[in-house]
Order: sequence, then C-alpha cells, then structure tokens
Amino acid sequence: MGRINSLEELKNLRIRLKENIFKTDRKRVRVCCGTACSAQGSKKIVQTFEEESAQKGMDIEVLMTGCQGLCQKGPVMKVEPYGYFYQKVTYEKVREIISKTFSREAPVRSLLYRESVLDDPIKKMDDLPFYKKQVRIVLRNNGFIDPCNVNHYIAVGGYAAMEKVLSTMTPDQVLEEVKRSNLRGRGGAGFPAGRKWEHCKKSTGKIKFVIANGDEGDPGAFMDRSIMEGDPHSLIEGMLICAYTLNAEYGFIYVRHEYPLAVKNLRIAIKQAEELGLLGEDILRTGMNFYLDIREGAGAFVCGESTALVASIEGNRGFPRPRPPRLSEVGGGLWGYPSNLNNIETYACLPPIIENGAEWFRSIGTENSPGTKVFALTGKVVNTGLIEVPMGITLKEIIYDIGGGIRNNRKFKAVQTGGPSGGCLSEEHLDLPVDYDSLINVGSMMGSGGLVVMDEDNCMVDIAKFFLSFTQRESCGKCPPCRIGTYQMLEILEKITSGNGEEGDIEQLEKIGNLVKSGSLCGLGQTAPNPVLSTIKYFRDEYEEHIKDKYCKAKVCKGLGVYRIDGSECFSCSLCKKACAFDAVNETKDAFYIDRDYCTKCKACYLACPIGAVKIGSRVIPWVIPEQCEGCSDCVHACPVHGLKMYETENEGIFIPWLSDPDLCVSCGKCSAVCSSSGVVLTTHVQEAKQRFLTKRPKGLVIEDEKKKSGYIESGSKNNATESDSVVLIDSDK
Ligand SMILES: Cc1cc2nc3c(=O)[nH]c(=O)nc-3n(C[C@H](O)[C@H](O)[C@H](O)COP(=O)(O)O)c2cc1C
Ligand code: SF4
Ligand code: SF4
Ligand code: FES
Repeated sequence: MGRINSLEELKNLRIRLKENIFKTDRKRVRVCCGTACSAQGSKKIVQTFEEESAQKGMDIEVLMTGCQGLCQKGPVMKVEPYGYFYQKVTYEKVREIISKTFSREAPVRSLLYRESVLDDPIKKMDDLPFYKKQVRIVLRNNGFIDPCNVNHYIAVGGYAAMEKVLSTMTPDQVLEEVKRSNLRGRGGAGFPAGRKWEHCKKSTGKIKFVIANGDEGDPGAFMDRSIMEGDPHSLIEGMLICAYTLNAEYGFIYVRHEYPLAVKNLRIAIKQAEELGLLGEDILRTGMNFYLDIREGAGAFVCGESTALVASIEGNRGFPRPRPPRLSEVGGGLWGYPSNLNNIETYACLPPIIENGAEWFRSIGTENSPGTKVFALTGKVVNTGLIEVPMGITLKEIIYDIGGGIRNNRKFKAVQTGGPSGGCLSEEHLDLPVDYDSLINVGSMMGSGGLVVMDEDNCMVDIAKFFLSFTQRESCGKCPPCRIGTYQMLEILEKITSGNGEEGDIEQLEKIGNLVKSGSLCGLGQTAPNPVLSTIKYFRDEYEEHIKDKYCKAKVCKGLGVYRIDGSECFSCSLCKKACAFDAVNETKDAFYIDRDYCTKCKACYLACPIGAVKIGSRVIPWVIPEQCEGCSDCVHACPVHGLKMYETENEGIFIPWLSDPDLCVSCGKCSAVCSSSGVVLTTHVQEAKQRFLTKRPKGLVIEDEKKKSGYIESGSKNNATESDSVVLIDSDK
C-alpha cells in the first residue's frame, strides 16, 4: 500500500475507489462477521461461499462486515445486486443461495425474515420493521464495508471530513463547528464535546493527548465494540479531527482486552492508516503529526471512569482521583499533560458532522440532544440487537416498532436504561421521548446506551440486586460510602429476596442509597444506588410484597412463596420428587405433596414439572368467619398438619375451628376447599390472620375424646355463631 502524499491524491484515490469498489451490478454477499454472528458460524459461511463459488466458476464477491444490527437473527447477510436480506443462515444453505439466488435471481424463502409464521416474508433489509425507524449515522458503514480494508472506508467517503478540515478549516473553525453542533458525549454524562475540547485547547503546553474511551464495562452493552469492530476508521478519523483542533500529537484508544476482534481490527486499521500516511508523521504532507496507539484494559468497570482510565494507561492501578485538576488541564491528563477524553461513539459522530455541517446534525434529534444514539437493545424483546435511533424517539417506538414487542406475548414491565448507573422505568414512561435530559428527569440516565427490556417474569427487586451486585463487586474500594454502603444495600436486598425482609428495609435502602450517592468520589459510587432507588420509586409494591407477603409474583426469588402441587393437574410422573434434593416431595396413595419443613424453595421441583402442576403461590392462611361456620369440623379433619382444632365459643354449644398454632399451617388450602359453607376462607394477609388466631382464640378447646360429648361432629347442625363469639372481623376482603 503506497503512501498518499497530498490532500489532492487522497481525493483522487477516493474517486478511483468509488468507481471500482461496490459496483451496483456486482454479485456480492455481505456476510456479518460481528461477534454475535461469528459465534454462530458466519466465518464458515464465508469459507463455504468462497469454495462453492470457485468450484462453480462464479464470480461472487464475499465481503466480511461488522455487525449489521439484527444479531438476534444471526448470522445475517445481504445478497446483491438483488438486495435480499437473509437471516439465520447456515453454511449448509450456501449451495441453495448460489443456485437459487445467484443463478436464478430468486430469493431463498426460508432465509427471509418474517414477522410471524403467518406473515409474508420480507425480502429487503430496509423493509424490515427493525430497520425502518432507524437513522444510521454512526453505524453508516457497519454492515456495509469490510472493516479491515481501508480502501472500502475511503470508497464510501472516508477521510473526506479530515481532508476538509486540513484543506479548508482552521482549528478554531472546527472547534466552532463542533460547538455549534451541540454534540454531547455519548459515554454517559452527555457533556458537550465542543466545550470539553475548548478547555483542553486553552490549556498551555506543547504536548497534548487525544484519548478514546472504549472500555464499555456495562453488562450487555456492545455499541462501542461494534463500532471498533465494524468501522474502526471512523473512530480514527474522528480522533484525527480532534487532534487537529487541539494541536495534539498523541492519541490512545483504551479498549478492554475482552474485545479481541475490536483490538484486532483496530490494529489493522491503524497500520493501514499509517501506511497510507493518514496517521503518524507529516500526515498527507500537511505537517500534521498524530501518533495513535492502543492500550488494552484488564476489564474493570471503574477503569471507564476518566481519571481511573488515565491511571490505567499510565500503567498504574485504575483508581479514580478527585478533580480538579481535570483531564483537560495541565497536571490532570495523561502523565500530567492536558488530554481530551471522549467516548468511541462521540468520535465516530464527528466525520459526518464536519462533512454535512452542524445545522444538518442539529436537524436530527431534539433541541438539547441533537443527533442519534446507538443502543444495545437486549432483554425480552422479539428482536434484540444494535440499533441507532434519532434522539427524541419514544421508548414505545424502540421496544414495539423496532424491537418487535415483548417476546412470547408477555406483558411489558420495565426498561432499564443506562446500565448499572441508570434506572428502571415503568409502563408510564413508554411515551417518554428519549434524550439526555428526559431520562435524568425521571431518575434514570442515557448512559452509554444499554437498553434492557423486562417483562412480567422479571422481578424488579432481583434486577436491582443484579445491578447493585455488579457495582458492589466493581467498586475500587477507595471511599467508604461506596465500598461499605453498596455492600450494606446488597445485604438488605439479599435478605429481602431470600424471604427474610423486615419492615423498615425499604427505608433503610433509600437512606443508605442517598448517602452512597452523595458521599462517593467518582461516578461509580455516585450512581450505583440508581437501579435500587428507581425500582423502589416505580415498583415499591414489589418490594412490599417480598417483605410483607414473602412472595415474589415473578417467581424469580428463591426462598419466597409457598410451594404446592396442584392435585387436579398432577399426573404423578414423579419428576418433581426425583428433582428434589431435600426429600421434600412426598407421595401418598394418590397424590404428591410438598413438605414445608423440608422444602428449601430451591425451585427444582417447579422447574422439573413438565405441565406446571407445581405452583409457587403467595403464602395463605385460613380466615375463620364464625357467622358462616356450621361447626361441621370437616376442615379440622382435612388439615394434614392437625393445625385446626374445634373450640367451643363463649356461647355454649357453638363450635368453631381455630388454628391453635398458626405456624403449623402449610398453606395447603384444604380446609377452605372442604368447607361447604364458606366458614373458612383463605387470606394472603398472613400476619394479620396469625395475630388474630393468637389473640382472639376462644377458651374452650375441644379435645378428641370429648368430641362425642360435645356433639360438634354432628355436621350440618347450624351453628348460629356470630362475630362476637370469637372476634370482630377485619376488612371484608381479607
Ligand atoms: C464507573 C464509570 C465507568 C465508565 N465507563 C465508561 C465507558 O466504558 N465508556 C465511556 O465512554 N465512558 C465511560 N464513563 C464515562 C467517562 O468517565 C467519561 O465521562 C467519558 O468517557 C467521556 O466521553 P464523552 O464525553 O464522549 O461521553 C464511565 C464513568 C464511570 C464513572
Ligand atoms: S466511588 Fe467507589 S469506585 Fe469511585 S473512587 Fe470511591 S470507592 Fe472507588
Ligand atoms: S390451609 Fe391447610 S394446613 Fe393450613 S389450616 Fe387449612 S388445612 Fe390446615
Ligand atoms: S453481529 Fe451480526 S447482526 Fe450483530
């Protein structure tokens, strides 16, 4: 690859490449080789295509691209010149694609996307609902070019923005343009990039650094990874524009070592750019120098924080430090030199902004958050993947129009935005236009673009625990509120989800959460309580249910709820019994039942039952209604734990059942089931019922050998008991 020696030469090269690469009538497959599709075999598909087309003597260009977005349906590919979009491709299908599509121009129907089995297949990518509402600016080349071929990038207009700044703009003019675009940092906080650059530009000193943050530590996020893997030159070009503006000669891309493909593609891209004279000394013979290198992080979430990241690049432990000095100031950046840190996506926005102008950028998105945002859409939506949408789009549009709605027709419950620093939003927020400010206003944040959708099978307390356990583990431990506070909060959440929650726990979580937020040094601690506080705010009833009723309606939290086998559904396959490691499932002549004394609520039986006959219900306990009770004692005989006994009330000859020891009750519900007069019903208000059984117990216990004498076993004889015979009934719904 020869060096390009002038801006003019670069322009001419682009014209030549445009004419020769990506000819529209060429037979071509663009096979997605992003991480998700590669994991599902896309490399084998590429290999098979090359072998089969060579064997058949067909001239088919096989192109390996970065993530095309619809990872859920991977491996995916585009087939040209017909424009077909194939999904769930396997290497076994390659022959059929060649014989049908390339030989007869017909689509392979089984590989086309369908909304449902009843819907017609959709042939073209742009017609898929997943892509229709997307606006791809940052991801403009992802899925289109081969990221390891700089010629591809140049052919689609790459390095034209750099050419523009070097030939027609002063650094000050570039800065003004970036400021006017109001590009806000895509790494989380949304700080205006232009203002940040200005700070750094104003700092004195000859040596300055431009750093790209590709740490991307949020669980489930893969926006930055996809850009680095699929279009590394757009990042390099964005960094070059920044370096030109700040007169910086050195740059680093900080990327976690868990991203091997991103590291590989970046290394190739840097090497190619150096060979072409687009990086290094005397770039395009304009006198500009910019030396770019990669630093691999060990994968600690805290190393994404700006000061910790700088420490990590310097070879020190990734420990945040107080600011000032800021990174942009003398003494604050890399080795003390003023440095500018931006997120990968922020840099990738720059070439289109410079090429098309700030006004164009501001015409997309909202007034205060212009442009687009890339999200990693994951969780319970039909179509998960990488999406790019204009700011201001609603959550509903993202989840239902692009994501295809909730999987298996379940009900939407929540959406988590902003990763472990963000919060969970509920159904009431579905119409919220998504931008930096709107999300902050409702207690969440944009973060770097994680979007996790949850349905009714997700427990919000468990979700809060998941995110908090992540930040707790990742806390660097420097400041006590973060180190100890997150630990204490996690302990309370463990207690609640294991069935030992107590009154006051929610308030304690709120109190500690606010202390952690206000007393922590860096953004990790300052935001770690957000998932807990936002779920308490919008899903408080779930916390209360866990604590008061010892029940998790999503049936996620082990240790909550009462396990029972529904005799009417059970067909005695005994799989639950075999699955139980604690011998808690017992067998009688004609039924299986769960012994609460042995049951550890491990869920093994629940998961083992093929027909869902094992139920996890909320704890119930009988509620005796004296006025209804006929004194038949059927419930007493039905109770398998002999918890119910007959008592004579203050009115002689009037008998009612009563739980002498409420803790004996195993919530089997048999008492209520056999009662023909609704004298015994079941209530989930266990504590109140227990209290009533203990404090209002009638005096006259009827012992077994007195049964005959007392005569209560003559069933059917109307009791005529009244409320005053035992207790005053509490609310009628109990
Ligand atoms: C704990 C923690 C982790 C962070 N991780 C990242 C990250 O992975 N990527 C990123 O760009 N910013 C991350 N940030 C934000 C950075 O500190 C910084 O604000 C950002 O890289 C600046 O770039 P931007 O202005 O372009 O968003 C993190 C912040 C904190 C507190
Ligand atoms: S807030 Fe937490 S992660 Fe940040 S410096 Fe303090 S202890 Fe470390
Ligand atoms: S629910 Fe079952 S265990 Fe409890 S009192 Fe009624 S019959 Fe007895
Ligand atoms: S990795 Fe192939 S579509 Fe995302």
